[in-house]
Amino acid sequence: MSIKEIFETLDYGPAPEATDVASDWLERHGRRFGHFIGGRFVKPAGGETFATYHPGDARELAQVAQGDERDVAKAVKAARAAQGAWQELGGHERARYLYAVARHVQKHARLLAVLEALDNGKPIRETRDLDVPLVARHFYHHAGWAQLLESEFPAYTAVGVCAQIIPWNFPLLMLAWKVAPALAAGNTVVLKPAEFTPLTALLFAELAAEVGLPAGVFNVVTGDGRTGAALVDAEGIDKVAFTGSTEVGRSIRKATAGRGLKLSLELGGKSPFIVFDDADIDSAVEGVVDAIWFNQGQVCCAGSRLLVQESVAARLEAKLIARMESLREGPPLDKGIDIGAIIAPVQLSKIERLVAQGREEGARCYQPSWSAPKDGWYYPPTLFTDVSPAATIAQEEIFGPVIVSMTFRTPAEAVELANDTRYGLAASVWTENVNLALDIAPRLKAGVVWVNCTNQFDAAAGFGGYRESGFGREGGREGMFEYLKPRYEGGLTRYAATDLADPAAAADITAGLDEATAPLGIDRTPKLYIGGKQKRPDGNYAYPVVSATGVRVGDAPLGNRKDVRDAVEAAVKGTAWTKATAHGRAQVLYYVAENLSARAPEFEARVRSLTGVTRRAAAREVSKSVERLFSAAAYADKYDGSVHPTPMRNVTLAMNEPFDVLAIVCPDEAPLLAFVSLVAPALAMGNRVVAVPSARWPLLATDLYQVFDTSDVPGGAINIVTGVRDELAQVLARHDAVEAMWYLGSAAGSAMVERESAGNLKATWVNSGKQRDWYDDAQASGPELLRRATRVKNVWVPYGE
Ligand code: NAI
Ligand code: MG
Repeated sequence: MSIKEIFETLDYGPAPEATDVASDWLERHGRRFGHFIGGRFVKPAGGETFATYHPGDARELAQVAQGDERDVAKAVKAARAAQGAWQELGGHERARYLYAVARHVQKHARLLAVLEALDNGKPIRETRDLDVPLVARHFYHHAGWAQLLESEFPAYTAVGVCAQIIPWNFPLLMLAWKVAPALAAGNTVVLKPAEFTPLTALLFAELAAEVGLPAGVFNVVTGDGRTGAALVDAEGIDKVAFTGSTEVGRSIRKATAGRGLKLSLELGGKSPFIVFDDADIDSAVEGVVDAIWFNQGQVCCAGSRLLVQESVAARLEAKLIARMESLREGPPLDKGIDIGAIIAPVQLSKIERLVAQGREEGARCYQPSWSAPKDGWYYPPTLFTDVSPAATIAQEEIFGPVIVSMTFRTPAEAVELANDTRYGLAASVWTENVNLALDIAPRLKAGVVWVNCTNQFDAAAGFGGYRESGFGREGGREGMFEYLKPRYEGGLTRYAATDLADPAAAADITAGLDEATAPLGIDRTPKLYIGGKQKRPDGNYAYPVVSATGVRVGDAPLGNRKDVRDAVEAAVKGTAWTKATAHGRAQVLYYVAENLSARAPEFEARVRSLTGVTRRAAAREVSKSVERLFSAAAYADKYDGSVHPTPMRNVTLAMNEPFDVLAIVCPDEAPLLAFVSLVAPALAMGNRVVAVPSARWPLLATDLYQVFDTSDVPGGAINIVTGVRDELAQVLARHDAVEAMWYLGSAAGSAMVERESAGNLKATWVNSGKQRDWYDDAQASGPELLRRATRVKNVWVPYGE
């Protein structure tokens, strides 16, 4: 054999990482674990346990506890008991703990990496070089947020007890993403790791206790979905943070509806990997390897849809097929392995089923000539070409090493194809043309966009989805808000039953609508405002508007579900508003303010006749409304994003983007001021709005039509439907084209909106039947509303040759 021949046929020898550290740790616990509650391991109330396995050889690693409601209640109680003192420690003291945790993670990096590779089946190379270092990085970074909490978030305070449920694909990393910000902000935690991978969370709990983290601050309850559901249902929690499947995310959205809980959901994806013809094709090939074969493709943001410009598709696919051949799949603990094992037989069958379906649907399937090991749960890297965009494998999250390839001709077609999904977690764009990349990135409906790179993560940058990929961000400043609440919230009170502004009382007024409704008057009755035009309501009915003193002041159109749909459609089409420059939107809002101001006496009279307030109070409501318009206009080009200092050679642009369509349901009190306070910032950020004004006193909103008409507000930017609040709200909450919704009304209405929003998982903000002071700028103006009116997209742009 010549040297050349030897070189060419050279194979890798086995390079196994020793597992003794992990075995020792498992043995020390007798390969049997309870929950970790109140600073120590405790036996499960029901005594039931189940096995966790090493997917690389299907062998059992240990028995862990199956938690039930009793275990969950105990953990929540421990977290509750610890919360006050933890918060009162202050940012600096908590920072010291988080810093110590980070140090301790680094000190035990090898044990953590080996145990993670064992329990999950992912390559040791990944746990060692990626998962564990990122976990340490996350705790260091958030030690910093704890330190800076009081100065950087002075208007915010901890949420309380956080229930956190995580998946099996990045067990430790998902723990870190959830636990670090929660603890930094002064919350305490009950974590439920996934049933397939509970071990590193238990080890982490032990390590945290070793550095002296106070008992009860961090608790772990293990178990399957039933345990997760029990935790979501538990009394005494203040927040649920979930990462996992969209299906379970949806069930959690419903289960938490109306309970006044904060919620963040990080769900599935079907992320596009877009390659333009001027891309560096060899880099793109390595990008695909990272996008879909990293972690066996069991990655929520995996680039699983390869979209290639037609002219380079054949070349890219050929290179990819060749590259697949040289990937090494095998024992996860082997240091030379690229692809490890699939988490569990159930996941393996899901992948097999979908691949079979892809073949049946006529796509062409490529797999390497070598076969995957048989002694564990393995699946080979797989590429589908000739895939139709509507095919199951092009739409469903496979969560395995399977990528589907499609082609496009123009950038516009690429964007359309990329957005042809119900998900919106991540996207990757490959081109050497920076102009093209930065033109495409904002048009992609995804929370993260990687330019000429993929699967980059860092604690300083937010991660999270658009659409059915969920809401909320993890990492960065934006992620901290998921574990904080405005201080003023603690002071809000429920509407009193006798309160004239009580939404329930308003509902009474419209309750007898059957008798009260009358055909719409021809001349004096206002209409709806849809697509920049006044429109008669579909049903042609009006309802009486009665003043606070019981006088019938006029009628308002009674909008129905058809009207809501028309309004949403107009908003969907009103893209001109979103595309306008921030400066342009500001000018329009200033103009609205100017025109409202010019007609102040008329609006003051209307406020008085409806609400019965004094002349002075009416004048105050109108002038404050003008001020709010000014404030929103001012913010239009000032509520800007940031550049996150991630430790790679790149700039990470955190951009505040509007939702396409934001629905706003207004309360009854302060009928002009509340409407303006809510709608103006939403418009300023570029949202197209469908608003339901005060159901009781809608005439101030209908009086605004002329103001809008004379202020150059483009059609579709603001659409107004009057009528019975909760009836209209329900249609909006169920509407798939509405991406976000604010509801300020009754507690029951708030619960309904949260529940009904589960369909497309819109981001909701409800008042839970609590009244706010519309004259208080902290409650009704400024960054908190702007934050609610936007979602952060992180665009990673590498630099350097
Ligand atoms: P899953 O969503 O069922 O599990 C995630 C976590 O939620 C686990 O800790 C689980 O015990 C818990 N859970 C399950 N049902 C629950 C419930 N009703 N209430 C509260 N918690 C509950 O995901 P699973 O079954 O492990 O995988 C199924 C599919 O979901 C995968 O094939 C994949 O497509 C997708 N998935 C997506 C992930 C992502 O990060 N986007 C992560 C894991 C799975
Ligand atoms: Mg396992």
